[in-house]
Amino acid sequence: MNDQEIIETENRFLANVFSKKPIVLTRGKGALVWDINGKEYLDCSTSYGVALLGHCHPKIVEAIQTQAQQLITCHSCYYNDRRAEFIQKLVNITPQGLDKAFLSNSGAEAVECAIKLARKFTGKPEIIALMGGFHGKTMGALSATWDKKYREPFMPLVPEIKHVPPDNTQKLREAITDKTAAILMEPIRGEGGIRVPPDGYLQEVRDICDRRNILLILDEVQTSFGRTGKLFGCQNWNVTPDVMCLAKPFAGGLPIGITIAKENIMSALKIGEHSTTFSGSPLVCAAGCAAIDTLIEEKLTEHVADIGRYFKAGLDSLMAKHRIIKEVRGLGLMLGIELRYDALNVILKAADRGVLVLDAGRTVVRLLPPLIINKNQIDRAVKVLDDVLGEEENQRAGSSPVPN
Ligand SMILES: Cc1ncc(COP(=O)(O)O)c(C=O)c1O
Repeated sequence: MNDQEIIETENRFLANVFSKKPIVLTRGKGALVWDINGKEYLDCSTSYGVALLGHCHPKIVEAIQTQAQQLITCHSCYYNDRRAEFIQKLVNITPQGLDKAFLSNSGAEAVECAIKLARKFTGKPEIIALMGGFHGKTMGALSATWDKKYREPFMPLVPEIKHVPPDNTQKLREAITDKTAAILMEPIRGEGGIRVPPDGYLQEVRDICDRRNILLILDEVQTSFGRTGKLFGCQNWNVTPDVMCLAKPFAGGLPIGITIAKENIMSALKIGEHSTTFSGSPLVCAAGCAAIDTLIEEKLTEHVADIGRYFKAGLDSLMAKHRIIKEVRGLGLMLGIELRYDALNVILKAADRGVLVLDAGRTVVRLLPPLIINKNQIDRAVKVLDDVLGEEENQRAGSSPVPN
């Protein structure tokens, strides 16, 4: 099939739920991907934060190839060598005390398990989430997700899940009741616009949870695996949750979800109360072992702390130049450029010039590059954004900005 035939086939036979860009990607290596006609793109989207080691990392490819010849699927009612190896590697790097996990297939599933676990462990129904938070689109996770465009068509959602304003511990305290089981939040809101909380906020939330005897569930689906310059986002503020949700990059690009908790908490779930057919498949776990090994051996988290500052400085220099930029923010390689106008044009034009970036809400350009990105590639991304923002600024001259 050529590019047009591929586009037509997907459009015809797949549910029309993704906001598609007219690009057919067929190959990737490191921070680069190529379309079917050979055009090269610098990938600062990493498939929404999945390909953190870059595309087709040789260690991931080798692990998948080797395991595919050994055993691909093995239900969790049997034991498996790769699964045991993966869980050992995982608990070696998770914050101390988080050492009992449920393995699933996506971020939303990791959140579903966390919600069920909180209810089962505490015997209470209520979950408090944050306005602006994003936790996925299955019914439980969606009930904790904030954006009404995702929620409203599917009402009624799971009851007893409510939202409080972010970065506001007073409102959080007021929202807690005798029925509250847990607070569920992202350490840094990703989809909500790359919002880094003020220093002290997360520690105070931890403190409130301890004093009110409720669980702190951190959704680290986007902020973990070195993304922010620490292995887990919460480590930027020395906070350890009771339950943590992981997904995206943990299996080198294969589908995975992980809900990891303190042992006494996870033990609240009894045989049969939660499961999924693909939990901890050998193929995914083999890729996961290679992913964690690569992250540690290549010291990528340390690299992110350094290269993230370099990228941020490049974006800050654009802010000094382009009035269309309202704010540049983020941590490590989780970066956002908030514009005074819709971000979509900028995203499409950047893609046209060979740099893939994402949105995060209507006005924020989100950059989630792979951890292995180098300074030359960052310069290339900054240059393209510079050109595109300049062009956009000229075209927008005289039109009114998006209201606050
Ligand atoms: C913080 C967070 N939680 C949960 C999810 C849902 O993950 P998935 O799309 O794998 O279900 C996402 C996806 O972007 C996310 O960013």
